[in-house]
Amino acid sequence: MTVAKRPLGNSTIEVSEIGLGAWQFTDEGWGGPDENESARIVDEALALGVTFIDTAPGYAGGKSEAALGRALEGRRDQVVLCTKFGYWADEPANYSAGRIEESLTKSLARLRTDYVDVLLVHSPPFELMDGTTQPHYRELQRLKDAGMIRAYGVSGQADTSEEIRRIVETTGSQAIEIRFNALYQEPAQAFEAAAAAGVGLIVKVPLESGWLSGKYTADSRFEEGPRSRWTPEQIAERAALVDEFAALLPAGVSTTHGALRHILAQPQVSTVIPGTKSVQQLRENVAAHEGTLLPDTLAAIRKLGEGRPSLTW
Ligand SMILES: NC(=O)c1ccc[n+]([C@@H]2O[C@H](COP(=O)([O-])OP(=O)(O)OC[C@H]3O[C@@H](n4cnc5c(N)ncnc54)[C@H](OP(=O)(O)O)[C@@H]3O)[C@@H](O)[C@H]2O)c1
Repeated sequence: MTVAKRPLGNSTIEVSEIGLGAWQFTDEGWGGPDENESARIVDEALALGVTFIDTAPGYAGGKSEAALGRALEGRRDQVVLCTKFGYWADEPANYSAGRIEESLTKSLARLRTDYVDVLLVHSPPFELMDGTTQPHYRELQRLKDAGMIRAYGVSGQADTSEEIRRIVETTGSQAIEIRFNALYQEPAQAFEAAAAAGVGLIVKVPLESGWLSGKYTADSRFEEGPRSRWTPEQIAERAALVDEFAALLPAGVSTTHGALRHILAQPQVSTVIPGTKSVQQLRENVAAHEGTLLPDTLAAIRKLGEGRPSLTW
């Protein structure tokens, strides 16, 4: 059974409802896959019907985009590629609107293509998420009119419903990438507003950075990479929440599948993009589409999220 497709909001783009997060590709901090394993993940993703792939210039200093470019040589047309602007491969973050085309041109070279499907402003400060005062969205529209991109939008920073509403109301975006999962549900308050405006939702961090796979405990420690920022207290908080989450699932449903099915049950979501370090993780994540959760389970998960807007990322 191949992965189902969903529209990316009102854009003309269709995406597989389970996509592939490629932040981990060749990234040492994540202990990510090397270039050969990354290529095998891409091969398997395409074979399973995964067509949406998310990357960024800042991932592994441009090497995630470059690995994808090599892996997709000759079959670019089989995927929907999403990359970003703001964090650069080889210099500090810079969000100058006048440099969007320069950043995109470098991404195109690394990705070995002449267009990207979706270009997102990469976790900008809140004040940049305002199309009434910032020139970025006119520039993105110009690049869209020129055929260099097919859609544009923003990837959240604090990932709140307030950010979604502001992006929807002021930027003319066609897509928003947002953190949302069973342990962090606050952004769902604005999902209807995004859907009503025809803005597609791409859900990042669906496993709460690996926690919802169920393999970590209160004693887990992360020496390197993005997860090393958590204090022991934050780790203990996550471990307790994952235990609560696991108890809500029917027998035989893994926490990974429960987490991804909960996200796919939100009709406003276009695609969910688990970050993937191996072919085995990819297969397990993709298999989530073979089942659904019952309304009672979804209601119980919603309750778990209530009153928890501030689980720090
Ligand atoms: N600002 C932004 O725009 C932004 C921010 C964050 C993420 N993203 C995008 O969203 C994607 C997903 O977010 P994320 O990677 O941060 O978080 P995530 O998808 O919640 O977690 C990914 C991690 O979970 C573990 N994992 C994945 N599948 C698994 C499986 N089946 N079984 C066990 N463990 C599994 C892997 O790490 P371990 O095996 O080491 O546990 C993997 O690195 C990223 O790849 C990136 O493309 C964008």
